[in-house]
Order: sequence, then C-alpha cells, then structure tokens
Amino acid sequence: MARLSISHLKKSYGDFIAVDDVDIAIADGEFLVLLGPSGCGKTTTLRMIAGFIPPTAGSITIGERDVTALPPWKRHCGLVFQSYALFPHMTVAQNVAFGLEMHKVPQAERGPRVAEALRLVRLTGFDDRYPRQLSGGQQQRVALARALAMQPQVLLLDEPLSNLDAKLRLEVRVEIRELQRKLGLTTIMVTHDQEEALTMADRLVVMEKGQVRQVGTQRELYEKPADRFVAGFIGRSAFLDGEVTAPGRFRTAGGLDMVCAAAAKPGPATLALRPERIAVGGEADGLPNRFTAKVEHASYLGALLDIQVALDEHDRMLLQIPNRPGLTEPQPDESITIGWAEDAGLVYPRGA
Ligand SMILES: Nc1ncnc2c1ncn2[C@@H]1O[C@H](COP(=O)(O)OP(=O)(O)OP(=O)(O)O)[C@@H](O)[C@H]1O
Ligand SMILES: [Mg+2]
Repeated sequence: MARLSISHLKKSYGDFIAVDDVDIAIADGEFLVLLGPSGCGKTTTLRMIAGFIPPTAGSITIGERDVTALPPWKRHCGLVFQSYALFPHMTVAQNVAFGLEMHKVPQAERGPRVAEALRLVRLTGFDDRYPRQLSGGQQQRVALARALAMQPQVLLLDEPLSNLDAKLRLEVRVEIRELQRKLGLTTIMVTHDQEEALTMADRLVVMEKGQVRQVGTQRELYEKPADRFVAGFIGRSAFLDGEVTAPGRFRTAGGLDMVCAAAAKPGPATLALRPERIAVGGEADGLPNRFTAKVEHASYLGALLDIQVALDEHDRMLLQIPNRPGLTEPQPDESITIGWAEDAGLVYPRGA
C-alpha cells in the first residue's frame, strides 16, 4: 500500500499524443476512478503506471520510489483487465499461483498465499476447478485473486466489470470496493460506466483527448464542473450558446436575456444548467430568470419526469421534476413557465 504520484506523464505515438501531460496524486488507500470517452488515454495511462508502456516523458512514483525506469515486476502493481485473461488449461489455484512462481516466491509460501487470496475473493474450495467451470463473475474474482496474491502496493483495474451482466456487475462492484477498503489498497480503476464510477470512487479523474479535465469528488464534478466537457460528461446539462454582455448578464444566440453569476467575463460563452435546478410552474415564481417554454417531449421515469422544452428555435433544455401523486406529465406543445436562480447557470467562455 502506498501513495502513487504521476507527474507530467506523456505518451506519443509519432505525431499523435495519447497521454498529454497528466498529473495525478493518489493518497495511500484511496480508490480513484479514471473516466472518459473511448480513446482518451485511460488504458495507456494505466499501462504506463504498471510498466508495460514506456512513457515519452514524465515520472511515476509509488511510495517513496521513482519507478519510471523499473520493469513491471519491480513495481508491485496488481493488474486486472477487462478480459479475465486466465489460463484455460490451468486450475484456479495454478492461475493464482502463476505470478508467484514467476517471481520465484518459495514453494512453501505459495500455497498459503494462494489460499489467502482465494479466501479474500470468497472462492475457497474452488482451487481445482478450471476457468470453464466458473461463471463470469467467478472468473473475474480469480483474476482479482491472482493480482492480490502478489501483495501489490497498488491495484490497477481496467474495466474489470464490463464483461459481466448487469446483476453480477452490481455484486462484484460491491465486493471489489469492500475488499479494497479492508486491505487499504491504493487503487485506480478505469470504467466507461458513469454510475459505476460515481458509486465506487473516493475521487474521480475525468480525461479527454489525453488530458485531465478535472480531478475531484462526485459532488465537485457535478456541481462545479471545470469546463463544458465535464458539465456534459458527468450527469446531464442543458447548454445555451450566447454571450456574456456585461457582468452577471447573459444573452442567448436567440436574443433571450438572462441573469447569471457576476464572475463571468464578457464575451462569447455557453451557459450550462442542470435539469434539477430548473423550476416549473408556480415554483418558478420570484426567480430572476423566468421564461415561457414549449414542451417538446415528456417521459415518465417513475421517480422523475423528464421534460424536454424549447425556449425558442435555438434553445432547448431538459427539465427533471420529482414525481408526486396526482402529477401528470405535460403534453407536447403545451406552454409551461420555467425559471432558475442566477447561480444555477454555470458560464463557460466559448472554447473552454
Ligand atoms: N500502440 C499504439 N500506437 C498508436 N496509437 C495508439 C497505440 N495504443 C493506443 N493508441 C491510441 O492512443 C489513444 C488512447 O488509447 P487508450 O487505449 O489509452 O484509450 P482508452 O481511453 O483506454 O479507450 P477505451 O475506453 O476505448 O478503452 C487511442 O486513440 C489509441 O488509438
Ligand atoms: Mg481502454
């Protein structure tokens, strides 16, 4: 178990920069989730930490050691991939023992370490089975046991749950997190699944195009997204393009004037609004931004109603209102009043 820090990490392939000047500091025992669209450099970052891809520039420190120049087997990282990558012709115990043999761990020590790792993932008694005799979730737990048997200082998980069905995902999700907490293992997990990221992480890193856009807790990312990309990637936002005309004043491209936070600098900008910050009907009374909007589409989602409205031909937004007895969803073309407080809208200079 150790702190991990990545400093100015970069990977280029010819002219293409896959990972661009990434800085991340992870506390001892922290569970960090790396999140971002396909191709943004998540796996490349993880593999550089593990030592399988040499960085073009930058450094990686685990505990007190600079491991940048060390081969994978001297880094004490446990790695679990999306595909379980178990050896089909080896039993569970042999699979888990494989890395120990490679590292020349004495024979007498291997048995107890395999048994302990299998106990941790609740697969005691499965030693002699072959991977084909296990369910997907059990195979994934063997892969995890194989990583844990190495007693890693850092655990690196690359979409470990994506091959599992929805129900198993939920189960293994909880198991991984409990185990990680119990062992106090410094962990980085990569996932595509936003809900998985939000439920599991201590903190999250959002990447795009090889760069870190924001590092923070769930609340920080949702309530104070650093840029327009994060505002659209974490949760949902309505985006209105326009201009900050004066401090605290925003005008949409369609010419609607709105009040926004005073800090925004004049110039071309985008206003982002979270759906739950928009009040509807009588609840919009007294709010500084009030508009009549036309309903385009309403969806009944059980606990929530999702309502897509148009302010004018340029500007659409999504509202979410909590369901309650007697509430019916508005019909298409119905006019409704919507409103929001001045601090509800986040203003991003165009291009940010
Ligand atoms: N060996 C390579 N040569 C050239 N380009 C590469 C190489 N490996 C990866 N890339 C490119 O680097 C970028 C980042 O790849 P990476 O696998 O890290 O993405 P990712 O964020 O893990 O995506 P996904 O979510 O799809 O797994 C991609 O655009 C990929 O095409
Ligand atoms: Mg990947």
